[in-house]
Amino acid sequence: MSLVRESKKITILNIAEKKRNGEKITMLTAYDALMADILDQTGIDIILVGDSGGMVLGGHDSTLQVTMDEMLFYTRAVRRGVKRSLLIADMPFMSFQLSVDETVRNAGRFLQEAGAEGVKLEGGSQTLPAVRRLVEIGIPVMGHLGLTPQSMHQLGGYQLQGTEESQQRRILDEAIALQEAGAFCLVLEKIPSALARTITDKLSIPTIGIGAGVHCDGQVLVSHDLLGLYDKFKPKFVRKYATLRQTMTHAFKAYIQDVQKGKFPNEDESY
Ligand code: KIV
Repeated sequence: MSLVRESKKITILNIAEKKRNGEKITMLTAYDALMADILDQTGIDIILVGDSGGMVLGGHDSTLQVTMDEMLFYTRAVRRGVKRSLLIADMPFMSFQLSVDETVRNAGRFLQEAGAEGVKLEGGSQTLPAVRRLVEIGIPVMGHLGLTPQSMHQLGGYQLQGTEESQQRRILDEAIALQEAGAFCLVLEKIPSALARTITDKLSIPTIGIGAGVHCDGQVLVSHDLLGLYDKFKPKFVRKYATLRQTMTHAFKAYIQDVQKGKFPNEDESY
């Protein structure tokens, strides 16, 4: 894979164009400037500062504990590493549920204080008034349907969504409603591939799948899952492209041994 930084800045218009041209959209998560810089240089289309950062980096056991302050901190760091990719920030639990005004204020902070270029909101019909308002004032919105981890208690866990016909109908209707409200694209998480295909065919905006099969217009994974760094749980939809946890463990152990045996530093590493 070439690590050449392509020069063209990606905007939501390019994302829409990719669907029209039948080109797949690529999205991965980042929570710090180093990872963002590496991703940006690989040519990824969208970098998502997911609230998954609260689990992966922050050590929380769900995304429910993640706050605006944490998300703003991660997003500012990622901004410093990104030149080309579209940068989207995830709105954390309780930052968009209270009122449209509160949602606008919090979404605005991601753009004004942290340099995001859009926000992602989990949920369907309950988010529509806020999505309409955000788009009206010029804040691009990515929707998120299917498994919405911020609702894990209501959903009874992290299981597959859209298994019943009534649920499938509701997810499809909410996808259409989000498109009509002005969302520029839609994450579909952990739903049957056939349902994701139906939604993808019906919508003119792109769908980006995670555990939603190959028919979505694009795919997203949590980078730390893909890299084999986060091992607390491994959903079936994760493909590990590396085993960095193992590599890091070997490196740290080798360092410890070298220090303990007086083998580090050597002459060349000393002044
Ligand atoms: O928080 C996150 O990383 C996400 C993606 C998995 C879509 O919402």
